[in-house]
Parts: sequence; C-alpha cells; structure tokens
Amino acid sequence: MRMLGLAWRFKAAAAKVLVLQLVLLAMALSGLGLLGLGIDVLKHAVQADSAEPSWPLGLAPPDAWSAMAKVGLVAGAIFLIAAMRFFLDRWSTIQLAMFVHMIVADLRMMVYDKLQQLSFQFFDANDSGSIINRVTGDVQAVRMFIELAMIQIVMIVVSIAFFLTYMGSIHMQLTLVCLATSPLLLIMTIWFGNVVKPAYRKNRELFDTTVRVLSENVRGHHVVKGFSLENSEIAKFHATNGEFRDQQQWIFWRVSIFVPAIQMIPQINLIVLLTYGGYLYMQGEILFGSGLVVFASLLQQFSNQISQVAQITNVVQRSIVSADRVFEVLDAPLAIDTSPDAKPMVQSRGEVRFEGVEFRYKPDSDPVLRDISFTAKPGQTVAILGATGAGKTSLLSLIPRFYDPSAGRVLIDGVDVRDLDVQDLRRHIGIVFQESFLFSTTVADNIAFGHPNASRDQIENAAKIAQAHEFIMELPDGYNTVLSESGANLSGGQRQRLAIARAVLLEPPILLLDDPTAAIDPETEGEILEAMDRAMQGRTTLVVAHRLSTLRRADQVLVLDRGTLAQTGTHTQLMSEQGHYQHAAKLQIADDESLRLLGIPEHTEDR
Ligand code: CTP
Ligand code: MG
Repeated sequence: MRMLGLAWRFKAAAAKVLVLQLVLLAMALSGLGLLGLGIDVLKHAVQADSAEPSWPLGLAPPDAWSAMAKVGLVAGAIFLIAAMRFFLDRWSTIQLAMFVHMIVADLRMMVYDKLQQLSFQFFDANDSGSIINRVTGDVQAVRMFIELAMIQIVMIVVSIAFFLTYMGSIHMQLTLVCLATSPLLLIMTIWFGNVVKPAYRKNRELFDTTVRVLSENVRGHHVVKGFSLENSEIAKFHATNGEFRDQQQWIFWRVSIFVPAIQMIPQINLIVLLTYGGYLYMQGEILFGSGLVVFASLLQQFSNQISQVAQITNVVQRSIVSADRVFEVLDAPLAIDTSPDAKPMVQSRGEVRFEGVEFRYKPDSDPVLRDISFTAKPGQTVAILGATGAGKTSLLSLIPRFYDPSAGRVLIDGVDVRDLDVQDLRRHIGIVFQESFLFSTTVADNIAFGHPNASRDQIENAAKIAQAHEFIMELPDGYNTVLSESGANLSGGQRQRLAIARAVLLEPPILLLDDPTAAIDPETEGEILEAMDRAMQGRTTLVVAHRLSTLRRADQVLVLDRGTLAQTGTHTQLMSEQGHYQHAAKLQIADDESLRLLGIPEHTEDR
C-alpha cells in the first residue's frame, strides 16, 4: 500500500506507462482479431457454403475484390499494427525504466534522510549490517516490486479482463467452462504467499547477520590478526553464510515446485477447449477462424498471464518483505525531536544544570544514572571522574540530547533542553568523543565538518588551538591530505587532536570532552592535555578526566560511582575528604612517586 503511495507521487509518469501498456494490449488484440478474419476469408473462398466472415466496423471491401486481395488487405493491416507495436513497446520500456529509477532514487534518499534524524536508540537497536542492507538491497528489491509486479499486476488484471470479455463475446459458455480451474489457482497462490513471506523475512535477517559478521571482521581485522583468530573467524563466517545458503535453498525449492504447478493448471483448459470447443464448431455455433482459432489463441495468452501470476507472487512476497523493512526505517519514531513549541536558541551563556536526572538506555533496564544534580556556571570547567562503566559518557550524552533522561531535567541557561530546537542546541555544543570518528576526506574538511563554510584561517586557527597544526603541516599535502577511511592513516593522538580542532572551530559556548586521552600513550597525552586546556578557555567545559593535572584545575569535580554522584567539590575540598577521590588521587600520586624514585620525572612538573 505504502509503495502505491510512493508511486502516486509520480502519477503522471505512472499514467503514461499504463496508457502505453493499454494501447499495446489493444493493438495485440486487434492483430489477433485480424488473423482470425484472414482465416475466415480464406475458408469462405474455399468453401462457399461456410459462414460469411464478419468484417469489423463495417470495413468490408467491395465484393468485387478477389479473396487474395482481401487477405492481402488483412495481412497488410496486421503488419502495420505489428510495426507500430514494436516501436510503442520500446518506448514504453524506456518510460517504465525512467519511472522506476525515479522512485528508487527517491526512496533511497528518503531512507537516508530519515537515518540522519533517527536517534541513538535506533542505532543501538539496529546493527549496521541491517541498516546498510535496508538502504541498498531492500530499496533495490522494492524496485523489483515496481518494475516486475506493480505495473504487471495492473496489466494482468486489465488484460485478463480484456481476454475474458473477448472470449465471452465469442462464446460465453465456453469461456465459463475454461475458467473452472481458476479457484484452484487462487487457493494455491494464497497458500504459497503464506509459506514464502516469513521465509523471505528470515532470509533478509540472515543476510543482515552475514553482512554484520563481514563488516565486524573488516573493522576489527587488527584484533583478529593480533589474537591469531583467523581460523575461528573463517568458521564463524562459514556458519553464517551456510545458514543463509540453506535458507535460500529452502525457498528455492518451494518456488520451483509452485511455479510449474501453477503453470500446469491452465494447460487443462486446452483439453476443455479442444473437446467442448470442437463440439461447438461442429454444431456451427462458432466460426472457425474468428471463433475457434482466436479463442484458442486468447486462451493461450490468458494462460501465459496466469503463469506470470506465479512468478509475480514470488516477487511480490519478496519485495513486500523488503518494502516493510524500508518502511520500518521511514516510520521509526523520532525519539528525539524538536517539540512544536520549541524555543530557538540565540546566544547561549553556557550554563548547564542537571536536576534530579535519572537515565536508562531502555525503559525496562536498570538506570545507569540516578538522581544527578549539579550546575556548571558559564565558563566553568567541570571534571567528571569515575570508574569505567560509571556512566560518564551517558551523562555527557544527555546534554546534546543524544538521549533524554527518564526522570529529572537537563537545563541550559535555565531552559529544559527538550524545549529547545535540537539542531540549534547541538550547534551550541562542541563534542570530542571518547573515540573520534573522522571521514575519508581532507584534513581541512574534517576540521570544518560542523561548519563547512569556515575559511582556511579559521580552520588553521582551530588546528593551532588543538595543537594539530604542526603535524598537519608535515602531512604530504598539509591541510589537503585526504585521510583514509575513519582516518586510519593517523595515530590515535593525531585523530583526537583533529577531533578537538573540529569541536573548537564551532566556537561553542559549551564544550564536552569525553576522556580524549583514554586511548593515548602518556607522551601524546601531554600534548592533548595542552590542546584541551586551550580549547576550554572561555567556555563551559565538561571533561571526563583521570589525570590530576586536569582534575585540580577544574572549578568543580563530579565523582560518579555506578551511576550516582558520590562526591562533588574542588580538588582541594575532595582531597581533604575520605572517599573515592582521595583514594584515586593517592594511587596516582603514589604511582608518580615510584616513577620519581626510579629517576623518571614524568608528568610531575604540572602537579
Ligand atoms: N550502556 C548501555 N547502553 C549503551 C551504552 C552504555 O547499556 N548504549 C551501559 C554500560 O553497560 C554501562 C553504563 O551504561 O554499564 C554506563 O556506560 P558509560 O556511560 O558509557 O560508562 P563510562 O563511565 O563512560 O565508562 P568508560 O570509562 O568505560 O567510558
Ligand atoms: Mg565513556
């Protein structure tokens, strides 16, 4: 149904295709009628006592014409119609192809657009294999529906109606007898649909898994090689791929039994025609050429159409499954959306406030954050400390509304973030993720990702703040160096500095830094910390940090313990309290102490 809705947007193109098809059908039937007429003319010439041929529309030529001249006239008309049909048929094929291309491109664009708006919840719930298959394979399968099914179904219905009317006009009773097998066709088609539809759904899901295993393997190739797990990865893929193949063969067997079975049924009609139709001719109830021959030919074409129904049922079931999967994306609710009476965000002062925030990833899962309240005043730096899995990333992700809290409120400048325009809100927030993602384009474009119109000066300035300018200048093409996929040709520290530059370029009043040094060696860490320090200047910053150097400079430290705020205060305050903070700090100091004892003065000077 939804597919029809989509096709309706191109109704002019669809109408053109349909009209062409109808004209072609009418021409085919006229050709057939003329053939019957030709035979009757010949028969009348040989047996003068046989029935008079009936000329259509009173176009009978003068009686003076010889039989051969009359047949010549009919043959000429048949040829003319055939030639016209050929050209119209080509034109109609081109029109159909253009129509299909328009719909498919449109549909793919719609899915892609929608993916940009979908929230993190959607991406948490659907793996990338499934998403990619929906945009590529499923959209393509929907194309089959339009190309092979939609137009054809209309054409089959119309042409069967034409055939039946024509056949009925020759002899009603004969037509009805020939149709006696039709209910069987209907029952079998419905049964087949019920069997294969769930199988096609399963088939697509198995293919999603196959693609996911493949893409994980490609992305995680270093882990696989590092642990020498090639063989077990091969076995894993073999199993997934094998399951997919078995399922496909299961479907194939059903299709290869069903299709010939359906095609067999109309053959019974020919037996009926030969016996009952032959009897009628001998009784003189129907003519030979425009009666029996044309009827036989019509019946044959009718059977051809019916046998297509089998193929089409197969295509339709398959493409309906794909269409459902495409529409699941298009219809997915936007968990995070700008509310209708949202306020535009003009210039933010940068005050961030949490009020009794509770958050769970799924409505039925345990909360990962509980009763979190704090305020980051404009320009302040708030550091967040906590063990892995404590909820630091989750806390940050509530500010740009990657998720909404399950209770409590997140406010910016005193306004609930849910009352702000989402895009406006996100434009005011610079984010450096725990693991940054870069795109396979130039360094400059990567930095200017959030601000594509930035000038080269602005880009370089951001890179300088992020301590990235120097290494960029050493790249083969400087700022114009094209990065490989996900920036794989840069070191971890270089990637993080580009990510910082990307966040800084926006000059956001609020900056979120999610532990950008987590995956970095201690030497590079120093450079990143310096980059972060400069980036934080003049903005409200929430930074996930473990280094004392960052923690002690923060205006406020939040200590998260399994989703709750265990402690808050400044470094000095927290150092004088017994608790997580003091414990963590002592460990670090002790560690640096041991370094000093070994004569390695690492990171000690900025304590
Ligand atoms: N979690 C989840 N679904 C996600 C992300 C996280 O259920 N999409 C859960 C994690 O399993 C974890 C909790 O949420 O138990 C907090 O995760 P997170 O905020 O990412 O923890 P961090 O404190 O950021 O941990 P780390 O230091 O390892 O980054
Ligand atoms: Mg984290």
